[in-house]
Amino acid sequence: MSGSAREASAERPPATVAVLISGRGSNMQALAAGQGDAYRVVLVASDRPDAAGLDWAQAQGLPTFGLSPKGIGKPAYEAALDAALREAGAEWIALAGYMRLLSGDFVTRWQGRIVNIHPSLLPKYKGLDTHARAIAAGDRQAGCSVHVVTEELDAGEVLGRASVPILPGDTPETLAARVLVEEHRLYPAVLKEFVRR
Ligand code: GAR
Repeated sequence: MSGSAREASAERPPATVAVLISGRGSNMQALAAGQGDAYRVVLVASDRPDAAGLDWAQAQGLPTFGLSPKGIGKPAYEAALDAALREAGAEWIALAGYMRLLSGDFVTRWQGRIVNIHPSLLPKYKGLDTHARAIAAGDRQAGCSVHVVTEELDAGEVLGRASVPILPGDTPETLAARVLVEEHRLYPAVLKEFVRR
C-alpha cells in the first residue's frame, strides 16, 4: 500500500456490512472474526428465523433480523429486509450461505454493494450441488469464489477465488469440508479489499 493510500484508509471509518444467512452461518462467523479497521458487521439477517447462525450472532451481541417470506410474499419480505438494513446503517451486504434469490428490484437498489460467496470456481458450476458436479466431471480442482451479486445467478464480477485439490475417494461432503476452510479465509480478505475500492 502506498503512503497516501495508507493515510486514506486510516482516516476512513470502517465500512458497515450486513451479513445475510440461511443456515449455520460459518462464513458469517468468519466475516465477524475479520471485523476491524476495514469493516464492521452491523446486522446479521436471515430469511429463516430459526437459522442456527442467528443464535450465534445474538450470543455475540450482534444485531439480528429474522423474517421469513413465507406467508407475506417476496415483495413485503424484501421491503422489510431493506428497511432493517437501512435502519442498521448497512452500506454493504455480504451473502453468506443465503439460499434465496434476491429480486432484480432489490439488487438494483443495492447496485454494486452486494457480494456473495459461492462454493465453486466460477464461472464453473453456478447454482446448487457444486461439489457433486465437480467430482462427477472428473475435475482435479475445486474451490470457492467471491463475486459481486447481479440479477443473474452467480454471474457478477469475480473478486477472488481459492482452489483446493479434489482427491481420490472424495465425496461431496469431504470436498465441501475442504473448500469451506478456504471460504473462511477468502471471504473476509476479499471483503476488506472490496469495501475499500
Ligand atoms: C457455504 O459453503 C457457501 O459457499 C454456500 O453455502 C454454504 C453455507 O455455509 N453457498 C451457496 O451455495 C450459495 N449459492 P455457512 O452457512 O456455514 O456459511
